[in-house]
Amino acid sequence: MTKQINLDNITIFVEDDLHSVARRAADVFAAVLTAAPAGTYGFATGSTPVGMYQELIARYRADELDFGGITAFNLDEYYPIAKSNDQSYEHFMKTQLFDHINVSKDNIDIPNGEAIDPEAECMRYEKAIRANANNFELQVLGIGENGHIGFNEPTDHFPAHTNYVELDKSTINANARFFDAVDDVPKHALTMGVGTIMMAKRVLLVATGFKKSDVICQTLLGAINPCISASALQMHRDVTVVLDADAACALLAQL
Ligand code: GLP
Repeated sequence: MTKQINLDNITIFVEDDLHSVARRAADVFAAVLTAAPAGTYGFATGSTPVGMYQELIARYRADELDFGGITAFNLDEYYPIAKSNDQSYEHFMKTQLFDHINVSKDNIDIPNGEAIDPEAECMRYEKAIRANANNFELQVLGIGENGHIGFNEPTDHFPAHTNYVELDKSTINANARFFDAVDDVPKHALTMGVGTIMMAKRVLLVATGFKKSDVICQTLLGAINPCISASALQMHRDVTVVLDADAACALLAQL
């Protein structure tokens, strides 16, 4: 049975299993898309949103959803990485979602992991998102085991803009499961800043599994601290969090 918890600006759904998480997250996305079919949407990679993307694809095929009017941005990308690399986020977004829905290819922007100057690419990307800021309807997020959103790693400030970051050792190790060897994981990334993410009118954060339990609790109930960049979401006006029971267990013990 779904548990719903309402904090001031944050609605939390705790679902029994991964299938229900995917459906609930897709419900949240679909409600925004139906209300704002020409809006700007921020997408995320990682294993967590895959179930939601499958639900969205199924609803598109059933003629329930239309992505034809949206503009799509992606949260982050490794750097450097070839677009053709099957571990690039460009490749991930195409194969997991964009190739299966009717989003216009001209309206998709993903940080360019092949850019020659990463700082210039960050500036280009931030400018492109800001040009769409007034209809930036929803940003989808997963969360890293160290509390990062995008690739905003633990540091002493919340990055305001799209930025070029050095990945934490813990992130490289956590993401090594997708590569042949840990040394193949890029050491840097391009990521929307926390300030970029906060521009979205709504945020949908999805987390599953015991490994995320402590960090979810700290994100939602702990101090707002750039060591856990997700904690900035406590200051956002409209956040929906969808968890499975495992990811919710530390949180539920505190409430
Ligand atoms: C990467 C991405 C994050 C994502 C995180 C968690 O580091 N940059 O955006 O949230 O992985 O991934 P997973 O959902 O596979 O646990």
